[in-house]
Amino acid sequence: MKRKPVIAIDGPAGSGKSTIAKLVASSMGFHYIDTGAMYRAVTLKALRKGTDRKSEPALTELAGSTSIGFEYGDGLKVFVDGEDVTEAIRLPEVSKASSDIADSRGVRQALVRKQQDMGAAGGVIMDGRDIGSVVFPDAEVKLYLDATVEERAGRRHKELVAKGIKTDLSGVKRDIEERDARDRNRPFGALVKVKDAVTVDTTGLSIEQVAARITGIIKEKL
Ligand code: CDP
Repeated sequence: MKRKPVIAIDGPAGSGKSTIAKLVASSMGFHYIDTGAMYRAVTLKALRKGTDRKSEPALTELAGSTSIGFEYGDGLKVFVDGEDVTEAIRLPEVSKASSDIADSRGVRQALVRKQQDMGAAGGVIMDGRDIGSVVFPDAEVKLYLDATVEERAGRRHKELVAKGIKTDLSGVKRDIEERDARDRNRPFGALVKVKDAVTVDTTGLSIEQVAARITGIIKEKL
């Protein structure tokens, strides 16, 4: 039986993927899968356990023995081994360390497999860095969200301030630039704009404007 469609959304940090994916998923009746949250979940566990982030065997073992769950309802909740880590995985130290974790081949293999299982029946919007290139290269719709680094840093800074987390804009911008470079240059699962992806530059656009544009592209493609 043919699976339902898969919508892949890739793009750099702060390009608005998760906000838009969540909105469009609920308005169009898709299931939303936040793959960044999965890398963040493994990162949080590694930080707590003091796992050596340079040890490939230790990271592979960690990813293989971690259970990651999502709960949908009033917002998306993320669980690691049964514990609600929705807030904890968004802390700046987790964002920073996530690049190391996402470089690990063993972690990527374990998480990509989970993502493929979660999306196997289709009917999903999945966002990340390597969804259209590695996880679902045969996705029916591929989107690439982008925005200038200034805009992305401004958005992330606002989000952190709203949560009461003290940060300065220049530090947030530096962290995003470092993560962008790591995301674009890793040997496998790197952030790339695949040939068949439609690029949407969200610089200067409101959430509603981006959601409307993405919804239009999805409808047209399906
Ligand atoms: O929300 P933000 O864009 O800051 O990051 P995220 O999407 O939550 O992803 C956190 C980190 O996980 C990224 O910096 C990537 O290094 C990594 N990641 C990845 O390697 N592959 C994915 N499919 C998703 C995230």
